[in-house]
Parts: sequence; C-alpha cells; structure tokens
Amino acid sequence: MTNHNADWAVEADGLVKVFGQNRAVDGVDLRVKTGTVYGVLGPNGAGKTTTINMLATLMRPDGGTGRVFGYDVVRDPQIVRQLIGVTGQFASVDETLSATENLMIFARLLGLGRAEARAKQEELLERFGLAEAARRPLKDFSGGMRRRLDLAASLIAQPPLIFLDEPTTGLDPRTRGQMWDTIRELVATGSTVLLTTQYLDEADQLADRIAVIDRGKVVAEGTSDELKASVGASSLQLRLEHAADTADALTAIERMLGVRGTLSPEAARITAPMADPGRVADLLISLRESGIGVAELSVQKPTLDEVFLTITGKPATADENAESQKEEVHA
Ligand SMILES: Nc1ncnc2c1ncn2[C@@H]1O[C@H](COP(=O)(O)OP(=O)(O)OP(=O)(O)O)[C@@H](O)[C@H]1O
Ligand SMILES: [Mg+2]
Repeated sequence: MTNHNADWAVEADGLVKVFGQNRAVDGVDLRVKTGTVYGVLGPNGAGKTTTINMLATLMRPDGGTGRVFGYDVVRDPQIVRQLIGVTGQFASVDETLSATENLMIFARLLGLGRAEARAKQEELLERFGLAEAARRPLKDFSGGMRRRLDLAASLIAQPPLIFLDEPTTGLDPRTRGQMWDTIRELVATGSTVLLTTQYLDEADQLADRIAVIDRGKVVAEGTSDELKASVGASSLQLRLEHAADTADALTAIERMLGVRGTLSPEAARITAPMADPGRVADLLISLRESGIGVAELSVQKPTLDEVFLTITGKPATADENAESQKEEVHA
C-alpha cells in the first residue's frame, strides 16, 4: 500500500517533543491536504520549528505519530526524505562559491545529469531574480538573496511536500511579495506547502488552512475565515485618550456589548468581538456619559491578530510587559 494516504500530505497525531522540563511540542495534531498551503502560526518559542523538524525526520518525536503521504516519519524516514524539501539545508554550502556553483553541486548531488543540472540552475536563478548575482560568491549575498537561493535549492528536486520555516521573516516588503508569489506558484504546479509564520497577514494571504499554536499546543484550527468568524462577526477597535480610563472602558464594553474586551500591545487600545456592529452607537453614548474620551474607533472584519488575542489572551508578539499590563487590568 504505497498510495493509501495520498490525500493527506501530513498527518500528525499527538506529536510531542520534550526538552528537559520543557514540553516544546505538547500533543500537536495536524492534517494537511495534498495540494494546499497550510500555515502554522505562532509566536516565538511556540514550537513551530520543532514540529517541522519532527515531520521532516530531523528530530525524533517523544510521543505521537507523524505521517507524510502515509509514510511514518519514524519507521520510514528514508522514504519520507525523498518526498520532502526543507529550507535551511542550504545554509551548509560553500560560502566562497557562487550561487551558480552551489546550485550545480546541489543538483548533481541529487542525481541530475550535467546538462539537466545546468538548465535547472539557470531556470531557478532566473525565477528568483538572482540571475545577475549568480556569479558572485555567496558570502557577498544579502539576507534576502540567501533566503531566495535557499528556496531555489529546495526546489531542484521538486519535492511533493515543502516545509518552509518562516520563509519571509526579516525580508523587505518587495522580496516578501516575491516569496509569496513563488509559494503560490509552487502550489499551482502541484506541490504541497507547510509553512510557519509569525505574520498573521502572511497566513491570511497564503494558507488554505491555519493552525494557531501556542506553547506547544494547537489552540485553534481552520480556514482564515473560520478563525475570524470564531472571534465574532466584526471587531471593535478602540483607542482611548487616556490610558487611565482603560478599566472603566472595559467595564462599559462588557455591560453594553456583553463581551470581554482585550487590551492590545500598546496600552489604551482595546479590541472586542462584536456580534452586532449596530450596538457601537450605544457604547459610544455610554463612554461619553462616563466621561471617557475616545481617540480612535473602528469596526472591521477581525484580523488574525485579534483571533490570536481572543484565543490565547495575548497578542502574537506578546512580551512580558504586555502580559503584566493585561493582568493588572483584569485583576
Ligand atoms: N534543541 C533544543 N534544545 C532545547 N530546547 C529547545 C531546542 N529547540 C527548541 N527548544 C525550545 O523549545 C521551544 C519551542 O521552540 P521552537 O524553536 O520550536 O519554537 P518556534 O515556534 O519555532 O519559535 P520561533 O518563532 O522563535 O522560531 C522553545 O522554548 C525553545 O527554547
Ligand atoms: Mg522557529
């Protein structure tokens, strides 16, 4: 039975990875349908890379199972490796050689003939906007150029499943857009992509389905629209004139809208799910009667940032400060 699970590029059930006392991945379930882009979204340290490492056979799970196109990552690692590409591999290549030379070596190692390797290498460098820099040594490449070369290298073999670990972190907006186009093209030409990201808009733009992970656990899963819907039909954003009014404003929101508002990273900015946007007028009247000044107000479709905030009680980029501010307000 070689093809019994071709519908699912990835099936993870209860994956666990423990480092000392730290359950870095704590029972993660994932289902990635073949031919789609799946986004794993979470803040620093959530367990994204560790999850990918287990699925890509780079790390042995301490619990649970992972399958790639039906092949178990622990029992059949050699088969799994032939079906996947992982970016980051390219980091180990020779810095003194040019992009062309590096890709040639990579292609030859993968068993391509000389002419085939040359054609592939030229096509990829062209496609990733690296043709001009192709003869420069890698040590002179910028971060964005390296990232693109890294992705190019992982495409030589055209694997059916590609893991992209934060493919656009640190890239400028234009290069980021190019990466997005490339990822869409990969899927259009038959690959399945599992990508991790800390960027909510990236998951929103690219992913057919998204798993939100926090502290090693999947805290929400669904399409971007489903995740947004779980937060309410629309979302209220409110910035107060005076941070000191925050607690009173949260109380007013709870009374008028029947929901609990959440404090966003910058204090004095409140987000709340709204079932009925029409009630915002009542809220405004109530705030004015209480003498609470409003600096900005908007009602919009919820963003994934708010989804994260609502589900985990903290923003995706929470630092210790934002956490303690939140505790104070809810205390
Ligand atoms: N090799 C390791 N040894 C010990 N602890 C580790 C190791 N790799 C990861 N961790 C820990 O496991 C947790 C999850 O790390 P992981 O790298 O998977 O997070 P991540 O979601 O990829 O974060 P980031 O967005 O920063 O890349 C973190 O607490 C991290 O410190
Ligand atoms: Mg990571």
